[in-house]
Amino acid sequence: MKKRHEMKVLSVETIAKETVEMKLYQPEVSQQTVPGQFLHLLVPGFTLRRPISIAKVDRQEGTVTILFKIVGGGTKALAAYQPGMTVDALGPNGNGFSIDDVSEGGRVLLIGGGIGIPPIYHLAKRLSEKNVELVAVLGFQSKDYVFYEEAFKKIAETYVVTNDGSYGHQGFVTHVFPEVGAFDQYFSCGPLPMLRAVTTELQDSKGKVSLEERMGCGVGACMACVLPTVDNSYKKICSDGPVFSAQEVIL
Ligand code: FES
Repeated sequence: MKKRHEMKVLSVETIAKETVEMKLYQPEVSQQTVPGQFLHLLVPGFTLRRPISIAKVDRQEGTVTILFKIVGGGTKALAAYQPGMTVDALGPNGNGFSIDDVSEGGRVLLIGGGIGIPPIYHLAKRLSEKNVELVAVLGFQSKDYVFYEEAFKKIAETYVVTNDGSYGHQGFVTHVFPEVGAFDQYFSCGPLPMLRAVTTELQDSKGKVSLEERMGCGVGACMACVLPTVDNSYKKICSDGPVFSAQEVIL
């Protein structure tokens, strides 16, 4: 059973269309969290907790920054929280990105789509501390949804792609792969169609994917997150993942 925490809201900011960044104070969670893990938040008036992405952790400050898209009543209510209020959170939940096999001086490709970008940013920060050369490809629906471009540019060679071409490259993240050069392995998080395209395009490369976006209840109760594996079994994204080896699962 994951530990329950009261996390104090320090700031709430809309950083792009329907996209909210919330900074929370909770030193224990900041010490424990690894990239790719998520928090399970209770919003008063809503029965099910919401799985929410972690974008940044500052262990010195004791803070955890989450990022979410307003998609319904729960996330709308969460976006209305004010500094000083507390959020009821379980976590950090899930199995995050393992970076033990990334060697110092190596080159890594990071691919994030929409609300799948926060865990990729957290990972990018950790990898940059490890002296790894980073290339990031970030996909968004359109210009209004773009966030974290500048933050990525500080630590990675960064490509921004929008589906409608209103900013950066037009099309899908896979369209810029010919430009990114050689890399040792890739890490990706985003919507399922994007992950399918990424894993197909990069089938000869070592990679890890996070299917965080496909979660429902986040606690093994709804079965919305079940995924077949190459050895004819099944995995639950919420409890076995959200991160898997790209070679392990069938998307
Ligand atoms: Fe409901 Fe995994 S998200 S069972």
